[in-house]
Amino acid sequence: MDLPTLQQQCLACRRCALCETRTHVVFGQGAPDAEVMFVGEGPGASEDAQGQPFVGRSGQLLDHYLEAVDLDRKTNVYIANVVKCRPPQNRDPLPEEADACLPWLRQQFSLLRPKIVVCLGRVAAQQLIAPGFSVSRDHGKFFDKHGTLFMATYHPAALLRSPAGKPVAFGDFVALREKIAQVCERTY
Ligand code: URA
Repeated sequence: MDLPTLQQQCLACRRCALCETRTHVVFGQGAPDAEVMFVGEGPGASEDAQGQPFVGRSGQLLDHYLEAVDLDRKTNVYIANVVKCRPPQNRDPLPEEADACLPWLRQQFSLLRPKIVVCLGRVAAQQLIAPGFSVSRDHGKFFDKHGTLFMATYHPAALLRSPAGKPVAFGDFVALREKIAQVCERTY
């Protein structure tokens, strides 16, 4: 199994009701040899229209933070979401939708084997780090789970709504860069 084959299977997914309302499945995007993976919540309207993750306003902000710490979805990171299809009106994914979709993300993890996973926002952090995770309390901290480091920061959409949080989020990206220098093999 490789990522393109997994993607082909995922594009045909009908495991939950979100398949009825989606325009495109948003499987993920990035470097297949990425050591750092970002995980958001689920596609919004722009992502549903284009079939790629984080391509709307929050994606522009994410790209800006990535660039500031020498990361880039074209060369050295991979970006995915907890759910691959847009929840109507951008509501949080329902537990049954996340449960149905998580096996795709787990297979992405097994194929990519990232050293660091950055959760963007509460939904991803509570799914991937701990159910009671609080982003305001625990952002920027690294948690070792079976040899992979997990960290969470603010979702870019939250930063667009509350720009006062941007310097704190930027600090998390600086901490990420330091962690990459410690644990990743490539030169960034
Ligand atoms: N928000 C997300 O969580 N994921 C996307 O892909 C876009 C916006």
